[in-house]
Amino acid sequence: MALIALGVTGGIGAYKAVEIARGLQKNGHDVVAIMTRSATQFVGPLTFEAITRREVITDQWKPGANADIEHIAIASNIDLLLVAPATANTIGKFANGLADDFLSSLYTATRAPVMIAPAMNSNMFDHPAIARNLETLIARGVHVVDPGSGYLACGWIGKGRLAEPEDVVNSVEQLLKSKPSSSLAGRSILITAGPTFEDIDPVRFVGNRSSGRMGYALAAEALRRGAAVTLVTGPTHLNAPHGATVVKIRSAAEMHAAVMDRTDGQDAIIMSAAVADYSPAEPAKKKMKKGDGPVTITLNRTKDILGDLGKLPSRKQGVPVLVGFAAETNDVTAYAKSKLKEKAADLIVANDVSRSDAGFDVDTNAVTLVTASSAEDIPLQAKSAVAARILDRIEQFLIAVPAKNAKVKA
Ligand code: CTP
Repeated sequence: MALIALGVTGGIGAYKAVEIARGLQKNGHDVVAIMTRSATQFVGPLTFEAITRREVITDQWKPGANADIEHIAIASNIDLLLVAPATANTIGKFANGLADDFLSSLYTATRAPVMIAPAMNSNMFDHPAIARNLETLIARGVHVVDPGSGYLACGWIGKGRLAEPEDVVNSVEQLLKSKPSSSLAGRSILITAGPTFEDIDPVRFVGNRSSGRMGYALAAEALRRGAAVTLVTGPTHLNAPHGATVVKIRSAAEMHAAVMDRTDGQDAIIMSAAVADYSPAEPAKKKMKKGDGPVTITLNRTKDILGDLGKLPSRKQGVPVLVGFAAETNDVTAYAKSKLKEKAADLIVANDVSRSDAGFDVDTNAVTLVTASSAEDIPLQAKSAVAARILDRIEQFLIAVPAKNAKVKA
């Protein structure tokens, strides 16, 4: 049984929060409801009081509310802060550290896990300001229950409807079960992420569609499990997860140097970056002027980082555990198997990039985990969940690598 603070903010979905409170209680949890001023315009505090059998917190300034500095007392006692529905305003306040009411003060004061279920008009949900705030929160480890799509209260049809109460309650149960573990405590993991940009001239480059989300999700999950994480990242719009050592690079050559300089002491290296295979042979120093005819740019092969990692002398003892990614459109497992051999890796995460719901620039992924002896299909799910499955497999390899071997010289 957990003590859950249920933050209810001012959206039409506030009525569904009543069902969420009831669902959590049915599962044996103790719920304390916190309503923002605008939430009380949609549902009366009495409804929550009757269900939770606790006084509902609606006002930071009510006489007596600060007698034991209530938001600090609750902040240290709760097992989870759940906000459903979470409006654009509350998400913005959380992302920017504003604390002008009880709920936003509680967010900054608590160290309990935080889960939010956004609900708003679909145009608002798609707005870059909201997207950025959500990215900030996700990078900070806040769990997001995605809104549903369909008919919205404002009459629009699109994404933004508060997730169904049952789904929110199930997400809470999953989160409570998967409390931060220390299964990677004492381990060091280097993760590469994002694309590389290969300059043609000072304003043009050859790049690719990788968003970096898979690598960043891996970094967040490895940190959650207690690992020391180095994130070597190409250009992305993402915020790095809190606690990672971040090394920003631009080109494949820079990524090669950054990774090879940091192999010492790594227990595992995950090459999730989409590294360019080719780079302009001679990038122009000045901006190239166009002519009438076609232009030919000679591209040279880049150095294969994963291939070079496979040749490290310490690999004879299986250190570091090496993971590569394969983006394929056909014969996914067969190509992954040959890549595994070619690069002397332990695990290849094979992506079918022909699917629109998996691979580049989406939040979900479906992969096959290919090792020398197995091929396991991981069905479509959030990249954070896929990251957890990949790290589970890495942990299996690490059983054979005592933590002290982390210091084996490469
Ligand atoms: N990789 C690397 N260094 C490169 C290129 C790729 O370390 N210069 C890594 C990627 O991070 C990924 C894996 O190698 O983990 C991808 O393998 P690669 O052989 O480059 O596959 P693709 O280029 O995707 O496919 P193909 O073999 O069809 O060219």
